[in-house]
Amino acid sequence: MSSPVKTNPVIVALDVPSASQALQLARSVAPFVGAVKIGKELFVSAGPAVVRDIQASGVPIFLDLKFHDIPNTVAKAVAAATRLGVRMLTVHASGGSEMMRAAVRAARETASELKIPQPLVLAVTVLTSMDSAALAELGGETDVTAQVERLANLAVRAGVTGLVCSPLELPRLRQLLPPTVELVTPGIRTGKEKADDQKRTLAPREAIEAGATWLVIGRPIYAAADPAAAALSIWNSLQSKHPPDPLDDPPA
Ligand code: C5P
Repeated sequence: MSSPVKTNPVIVALDVPSASQALQLARSVAPFVGAVKIGKELFVSAGPAVVRDIQASGVPIFLDLKFHDIPNTVAKAVAAATRLGVRMLTVHASGGSEMMRAAVRAARETASELKIPQPLVLAVTVLTSMDSAALAELGGETDVTAQVERLANLAVRAGVTGLVCSPLELPRLRQLLPPTVELVTPGIRTGKEKADDQKRTLAPREAIEAGATWLVIGRPIYAAADPAAAALSIWNSLQSKHPPDPLDDPPA
């Protein structure tokens, strides 16, 4: 990397079962991360109250509910998420360009009415759980890379300015898409922990160098003995001029 990153690109996935655990985790890591991610399990069990409570701790929220429905329904869901004050949210690119345009319009118009920052609408292309056999079952394109590229182009043409992608897709999407498109990447491992169920991983710094704008990191932070120290260690590794030794311990 030519120069260290200036704003913290780390988004901690709050993949914990209860609102109280999520709130505690969010408060402890808030000074050392750029945002926290609330997914379907936490939102369905704890609802909008958990978004408001975590928001009160001052950390930006990425609401990862992956909307996919008719354009009118998605627009209303995006408007509701915008009213909650979230800073990023997700839709499925496979919902089509009209649905994505409706999502972006709802985010822009609701934010402008409320005079709050417009949330970043992120498109999910092909779920990383899907391979070419799974695509074949659906009919149409069976080449995963070709389908990712097709949906990424469709999303950008529909006005979407961010995509969720795997670490392996970063170099190709950076070639393909305008440089202003924000790329959000899970599958990050520091080298100090096991890969868990992630098959293809990159270290935080490698992912930034490959073109990621944001890094979604779950277990390497929330399952660490000291999540705040783990988050600080990752942030330090991104700011330093020289890559850290992965065997170094996080600061006490
Ligand atoms: O614990 P870990 O760092 O693997 O968590 C990654 C987070 O990113 C989880 O919330 C997971 O659901 C999410 N995610 C992912 N792979 C994708 C999309 C989202 O791991 N393709």
